[in-house]
Amino acid sequence: MDIAFIGHGQVGGALADGLQRAGHTVTLAAGDPTSPSVVKALARNPALQVRAVAEAVAGAQVIVVATPFAALEAAIPPIASLLAGKVLVDCTNPVGPGMSHGLGSKRSGSEYLHELAPGARVVKAFTIYGFENLESSAYPGHDVLPAMLIAGDDAAAKADVSVLCRDLGRDPVDTGKIDQALHLEHMTLLWEKMVRRERHPAGLVWAALRR
Ligand SMILES: NC(=O)c1ccc[n+]([C@@H]2O[C@H](COP(=O)([O-])OP(=O)(O)OC[C@H]3O[C@@H](n4cnc5c(N)ncnc54)[C@H](OP(=O)(O)O)[C@@H]3O)[C@@H](O)[C@H]2O)c1
Repeated sequence: MDIAFIGHGQVGGALADGLQRAGHTVTLAAGDPTSPSVVKALARNPALQVRAVAEAVAGAQVIVVATPFAALEAAIPPIASLLAGKVLVDCTNPVGPGMSHGLGSKRSGSEYLHELAPGARVVKAFTIYGFENLESSAYPGHDVLPAMLIAGDDAAAKADVSVLCRDLGRDPVDTGKIDQALHLEHMTLLWEKMVRRERHPAGLVWAALRR
């Protein structure tokens, strides 16, 4: 797939690298091609392409948003028309004081993002554990894959994102419609508090067992 990244720091940089290595064409949508996160992402993987934001978004089937949540308000409206009909993967997480939900748990950040880009096919993904676990899917000694829980209203968009999850060595779990994103965001906060505050290892991930 042709995939563009808006935001290429800890989360976006790891995913962009992994997806390019999995055979996708990955472009960093960069307002400033000399920014530290672009330079670092290219140092990690020189095969990533870099284009101006509108050009990168226009040329992509899938756009991954991995900016701070607060950046969406400025970053998305100028490209909202270009996002119409495209798969928009929401990796952001609204975080408030004391690792609370940044929108007061009243609605998800993904629903807010959808309001900014109403024509996009939004899928929440790649948020439920820390960036440390997006750099590699190897968990030596375990024979189950790390799960990736996703949510969104568009079945075809979720199918595309599930392919990307598998390409990154994840077990995709479709949790349902976009209203489930609120619960995935709380799952991220659970992980963040366990690891950043309670000192569980940062290599902790969720897995899904079925019978
Ligand atoms: N870190 C985690 O473990 C983790 C886990 C789950 C979810 N998340 C969520 O993932 C998102 C990214 O987190 P991160 O840790 O990867 O952050 P990060 O390392 O700080 O990277 C943020 C990226 O967003 C870009 N950016 C900042 N403001 C922007 C704007 N106004 N317009 C366009 N791009 C902008 C930055 O570009 P510059 O370098 O040019 O500033 C950088 O590439 C956040 O919403 C976070 O809550 C993080």
